[in-house]
Amino acid sequence: MAKPSFLPPFMFGLLFAIFGVILSAKYSSITVDQSALLALKSHITHDPHIFLTTNWSTSTSVCSWIGVTCGSKHYRVTALNLSSMDLTGTISSQLGNLSFLAWLDIHQNSFQGSLPIELTNLRRMKYLEFGNNSFNGEIPSWFGCFTELQGLYLYLNNFIGVIPSTLGNLSKLEMLGLGWNQISGRIPNSLFKCKELKFLSLFNNSLEGSIPTEIGNLTLLETLSLSDNYFKGEIPSVIGNLTSLVII
Ligand SMILES: *[C@@H]1O[C@H](CO)[C@@H](O)[C@H](O)[C@H]1NC(C)=O
Ligand SMILES: *[C@@H]1O[C@H](CO)[C@@H](O)[C@H](O)[C@H]1NC(C)=O
Ligand SMILES: *[C@@H]1O[C@H](CO)[C@@H](O)[C@H](O)[C@H]1NC(C)=O
Ligand SMILES: *[C@@H]1O[C@H](CO)[C@@H](O)[C@H](O)[C@H]1NC(C)=O
Ligand SMILES: *[C@@H]1O[C@H](CO)[C@@H](O)[C@H](O)[C@H]1NC(C)=O
Ligand SMILES: *[C@@H]1O[C@H](CO)[C@@H](O)[C@H](O)[C@H]1NC(C)=O
Ligand SMILES: *[C@@H]1O[C@H](CO)[C@@H](O)[C@H](O)[C@H]1NC(C)=O
Repeated sequence: MAKPSFLPPFMFGLLFAIFGVILSAKYSSITVDQSALLALKSHITHDPHIFLTTNWSTSTSVCSWIGVTCGSKHYRVTALNLSSMDLTGTISSQLGNLSFLAWLDIHQNSFQGSLPIELTNLRRMKYLEFGNNSFNGEIPSWFGCFTELQGLYLYLNNFIGVIPSTLGNLSKLEMLGLGWNQISGRIPNSLFKCKELKFLSLFNNSLEGSIPTEIGNLTLLETLSLSDNYFKGEIPSVIGNLTSLVII
């Protein structure tokens, strides 16, 4: 009649093990986020208003750090907003370890150098705002791997070279701001595959060639800014069919 009663203790053990795994996963992944942000901090050479110097401290959770937002579900860093802090520095490769990051806004600072290829790990990225900094080099062709991207802003930097044709892979892209750089060459035809584009700004660069008639494919366009370039030829009449256009 005495049934062995090993089952309850066994189940307790199992529950304990599961909790342990969940807790350690949670702990270790937010630790990865913390070291990624500390690496970024260590690449910031000038923080005149002391935004990060004291606030980004290991004695508090990264989720309470200024500019950092964590998701409620996974308790991981989902957004980083360091805009208008007058920071000088470079973007460290460890930033690519923030695997839940979807919004990155560092506009209006003095970040320089080129963008590390490790950022390609950030496959959830929806919004990248790097405007008004001092980044240089070519616009990386690997931007084409951010398939969830809706907004890409690189205006007011020192980017050179051509617009990479891989941007045509960004099928969800709604906003593209590349003005005030030194970008040359023609607008790649692949860009007109980005059917969701509402905002396209290429002004004040060194772009050349004609404005392709495929521009008529961007039927959702609201803002089109192409001034201060070396475009030639006629303005395609298809632009007249872009009924959402309010600024040209
Ligand atoms: C860091 O800044 C955030 C946002 O301003 C603030 O809520 C938090 O208390 C600050 N932490 C420290 C340690 O100063
Ligand atoms: C970042 O913060 C600035 C200033 O508070 C705000 O204007 C901007 O919209 C924020 N960026 C994002 C992506 O939320
Ligand atoms: C984070 O990124 C760096 C450089 O990309 C890498 O060396 C490191 O192993 C990564 N992982 C962790 C857990 O920090
Ligand atoms: C760019 O940033 C500087 C300060 O860093 C600011 O004075 C200027 O107005 C900004 N320009 C634009 C177009 O946002
Ligand atoms: C993106 O587009 C280019 C051509 O425009 C293509 O060769 C490449 O395989 C595509 N995929 C990725 C992930 O970049
Ligand atoms: C533009 O639209 C036309 C007609 O729908 C299509 O044949 C063409 O492939 C499109 N071009 C691009 C670059 O998406
Ligand atoms: C275009 O950019 C150059 C610097 O690259 C600057 O000198 C010039 O004033 C800008 N033109 C306009 C119209 O903003």
